[in-house]
Amino acid sequence: MDKFLMCPPDYFGIEYEINPWMRLSNQADLTLARKQWQELYRVLTTELGASVELLKPVKGLPDLVFTANAGYVQGDPVSSTGQALFVSSSFKHKERQGETPFFDAWFQSHGYQVRKLGPDCIFEGAGDALPLGETIFAGYRHRSEICSHQELGDITGRRVLSLELADPRFYHLDTCFCPLDDKTALYFPPAFDTYARKVLSESVPDLVAVSEPSAHRFACNAVVLPGNVVTNTGCADLAKPLAERGYNLRMVELSEFMKSGGSAKCLTLRL
Ligand code: ARG
Repeated sequence: MDKFLMCPPDYFGIEYEINPWMRLSNQADLTLARKQWQELYRVLTTELGASVELLKPVKGLPDLVFTANAGYVQGDPVSSTGQALFVSSSFKHKERQGETPFFDAWFQSHGYQVRKLGPDCIFEGAGDALPLGETIFAGYRHRSEICSHQELGDITGRRVLSLELADPRFYHLDTCFCPLDDKTALYFPPAFDTYARKVLSESVPDLVAVSEPSAHRFACNAVVLPGNVVTNTGCADLAKPLAERGYNLRMVELSEFMKSGGSAKCLTLRL
């Protein structure tokens, strides 16, 4: 069963500018944001059969909706044999640092071992660290720092491959890279530096490059379920390559969250 953590957008808003998508002059419509989030929740649960746990929204933390940034999750306390881990994020911006106690408390009370990285090392969780097979692909430069990769590898016991991100609009790895299965991933090549592109092409057998217009609609910020990939609207050219690999494309309008630099995947954290 696919399980995710989401947080309703009760206090969502554009209250600061910490990435190139956020403009205080381009405010989100909260009523519309609520409808869009609700539709994403409905598609994931009712339509696609995923189970979604909810974190209680907190006033004054407008980006708490982006649960992908809470931390890196490995194992499930209900089904897994070993200990389930939650490697808690250390946010770059003070505007988001207040989210950490709420995420930690949720994981603590749901049976996860909560682990912290050493001091002074920025790490933004599943926004920048994505498993593909036995490897964790980890982005750095705009948000997470490369120092977090070694520690993440030590804690999880996985190989971590570092990828340098080149374009500030694709500031988290999950805005430009999306594993579909053990050997397939979507990516937007110009978002990576030359060496990162080499690492990707040498380690992922089936790399699907998304078009520039779709990349700018955050096509790579997709929620992947068996046979289905959920993205923002405007990514229709993904339907064909996905169909060739056995996936149906399901688009949900997420315009209000795009104003914050986030889309479908950012609004979920896989448990
Ligand atoms: N406004 C949020 C920020 O800049 C958006 C986070 C999007 N999350 C993600 N996993 N890409 O931090």
